[in-house]
Amino acid sequence: MSVTQVPFGTTRDGSKVTLLRITNSMGCYLELLDYGCTVHALSVPDRDGRLTDVTLGYDTLGEYEEHDDAYLGAAVGRHANRIAEGKFTLNGHEYTLAKNNGENHLHGGIHGFDKYIWSYTVSGDDSVTFSRLSPHGEEGYPGNLRVSITYSFTRECSLEIDYRAESDADTVVNLTNHSYFNLAGRGTVHSHLLQIYADFFTENDGGCLPTGRILEVTDTPMDFRQPKEIGAKIDADWEQLWSVGGYDHNFVLSDPSGLKKAAVLFCPDTGIVMTVHTTMPGVQLYTANALTPRKGKNTARYKERSGVCLETQYFPNAMVCHNFPSPVLKAGEVYSHRTIYSFTAK
Ligand code: BGC
Repeated sequence: MSVTQVPFGTTRDGSKVTLLRITNSMGCYLELLDYGCTVHALSVPDRDGRLTDVTLGYDTLGEYEEHDDAYLGAAVGRHANRIAEGKFTLNGHEYTLAKNNGENHLHGGIHGFDKYIWSYTVSGDDSVTFSRLSPHGEEGYPGNLRVSITYSFTRECSLEIDYRAESDADTVVNLTNHSYFNLAGRGTVHSHLLQIYADFFTENDGGCLPTGRILEVTDTPMDFRQPKEIGAKIDADWEQLWSVGGYDHNFVLSDPSGLKKAAVLFCPDTGIVMTVHTTMPGVQLYTANALTPRKGKNTARYKERSGVCLETQYFPNAMVCHNFPSPVLKAGEVYSHRTIYSFTAK
């Protein structure tokens, strides 16, 4: 195992960005940027031992900055996904957040965690911890929040992400990673088989905001309890899908507590299997519906459905839908969550 560091360009405002590569003894590697704690590349073996980069990204920092609304590989926060009308009430006080998705707040706002260059420390030969202080009032959130995100890459090709945060005032925290996976390394993800360990999903309104209703997946295109091709029902004439252009929904994981299996993704072409474990209660299945045609890494061309995100999280809009698990972090308490993406081939 080893960790190497190389420059990865300069932001528009003149700050230097570093690429860190963690390589394991099989020659597989994870590449990270300190810009947005971004997963830039994740190279794992297919069934014939050939390395395949299974995440979407760009060749240059300029492209990450230009297309910042896609959040390719980034850490998102303070609050992943949407909060209706960019406001919430906590301890009787109404907080107003930045609105960056029509009337709503999305992925931490105009200048969310994905757009900062984070400090980092390298631990041993297999992990990197990024940290930053998100000041009181940032994008409208209360409390000075100390955040750290540790990425480890194991000998067995697992990407382990540990999130930790503490605030000096009650606040809201819901951190995730926005990697788009494509286990073929090209094309769309329609033929990938997906299994999600969820009997229920949260209903969206036409603006992709959870309404608060929790619906059964049974007899709907949301039923991924057995492995199913992502493309099998994606274009079904069903309002939940066509209103958001594909899958863009939060699944209610059947086991709400502890570190448990959330999803399995399999690519029949390469044989690569990705298994997701998380301590979070939900996972957002997002099929890159808004990924307009563009150039990606190494001459790749991306478009809608070129990748699939499995964003582990508290349910979106939970500050408005009070029946959802609460993303409130009390002053002095520790936010601690873990998500693992592990890779094998068959
Ligand atoms: C959201 C989508 C959004 C995408 C890119 C996903 O997490 O659920 O609605 O378009 O991120 O911003």
